[in-house]
Amino acid sequence: MWPVVLRDAEPGGTVTLRPLRRSDAREWMRLRADNAAWLEPWEATTPGAGRGTTTFAEYVRVLTRQARAGTTLPFAVEHAGELAGQLTVSSITYGSLCSASIGYWVSRHVAGRGVIPTAVALATDYCFQVLGLHRIEINIRPENERSLRVVAKLGFRDEGTRARYLHIQGAWRDHRTFALTADEVPDGLMGRWQRLRSGA
Ligand SMILES: CC(C)(COP(=O)(O)OP(=O)(O)OC[C@H]1O[C@@H](n2cnc3c(N)ncnc32)[C@H](O)[C@@H]1OP(=O)(O)O)[C@@H](O)C(=O)NCCC(=O)NCCS
Repeated sequence: MWPVVLRDAEPGGTVTLRPLRRSDAREWMRLRADNAAWLEPWEATTPGAGRGTTTFAEYVRVLTRQARAGTTLPFAVEHAGELAGQLTVSSITYGSLCSASIGYWVSRHVAGRGVIPTAVALATDYCFQVLGLHRIEINIRPENERSLRVVAKLGFRDEGTRARYLHIQGAWRDHRTFALTADEVPDGLMGRWQRLRSGA
């Protein structure tokens, strides 16, 4: 299945999801440095680990291996043809669960333009319609008002709070879980999101 490219094909659409690649190194590191304070409160950390020494090339190699194994979709998010962030579909599970989890970030300079809601809608439709998954979940710190707006606008269901769910900024943090099942968006999440964007 991998590599996968997903585009917002609507007139005026600016968002593309495509595989994160080694040649993104320079731009990715520039974006991460520029956005360090913007991202830090929301990014997962590993308990007991110091600052990692993993290179970007190793990071992409591991993600690509997971993508080929079918457990992760490590997308780069492009806005108007430029690298602007990441969206990762992880923990892809089949069998009697058929579920996955989505995480994301976007550079502050393009925030507020609906880039991540569009990216989430594209990825969710791919998971439901192509991979045949049944459920997508998104986990958000209760303090992350911007991310809470993303799931609210897309109509993800509030499933409640998971205590001390993820390790972030050096401690176990509570998260709110939001989910959608495929039957809730029979015409696709992009359709729902486009209707909302156009005010229909
Ligand atoms: C959360 C995040 C991914 C949202 O992405 P986005 O593409 O900006 O999403 P939207 O355009 O829908 O904006 C979401 C909210 O951000 C706020 N926002 C609007 N303009 C903004 C701007 N210029 N700068 C910052 N925030 C803005 C608004 O509250 C908006 O909600 P609204 O549309 O109801 O007004 C992004 O803010 C981000 O990357 N934050 C840091 C990392 C992070 O929190 N990741 C998610 C972890 S769960």
